[in-house]
Amino acid sequence: MKKSFDKGFVTPHPVFIIATYDENGKADAMNAAWCGQVGMNKLSISLSAHKTTQNIKANKEFTVSFATKEQIEACDYVGIVSANKVSDKLEKCGFTVTRSDKVNAPVIDQLPVAIECKVIELQEEFNETRVIAEIVGMKADESVLTDGKVDLEKLHPIMFDTVALCYREIGASVGGAWNAGKKFE
Ligand SMILES: Cc1cc2nc3c(=O)[nH]c(=O)nc-3n(C[C@H](O)[C@H](O)[C@H](O)COP(=O)(O)O)c2cc1C
Repeated sequence: MKKSFDKGFVTPHPVFIIATYDENGKADAMNAAWCGQVGMNKLSISLSAHKTTQNIKANKEFTVSFATKEQIEACDYVGIVSANKVSDKLEKCGFTVTRSDKVNAPVIDQLPVAIECKVIELQEEFNETRVIAEIVGMKADESVLTDGKVDLEKLHPIMFDTVALCYREIGASVGGAWNAGKKFE
């Protein structure tokens, strides 16, 4: 028998590390889990008032890297501390950056995959800013590619468990998409 709840939730969430430049060209990064893909080439991210939110409003360009198991402490740290209070936030957790050649935004050197985004729309709703952005490119370290494609078994992305409030790793493939269901055809 199923128990009935008055509240529901979606879990797990991918963990995005958003990287931006401020008006002086200083890099910042933050952890964002209230996000997802919209259609084939767009993202939606819900942001409260952060330094990153100011930077995105000013610059309209950013990158999103996938948080990894190897960098879990740094990925969590950028979600705890604001660049509004700690100006050397990235240096403190060991993140260095390289400027993207496609967008005016930093790519975090220690995270193997970054997608490059340009803002399409900023929606002010429910006391937050919903960023809708187009994915215009991607940078991926050779070390996480198999046959030229990003391989999650090499990348080790972490997911955010909104119930237990922890990060989880992803397990092995358990069946092919558009394939496992063919059993019932
Ligand atoms: C697991 C986790 C998920 C988070 N997800 C979001 C999010 O989706 N949206 C948001 O506005 N803040 C989110 N935060 C909070 C920001 O990452 C945090 O306030 C950060 O310090 C902002 O940094 P900044 O002011 O330098 O941009 C999250 C934090 C953690 C630890």
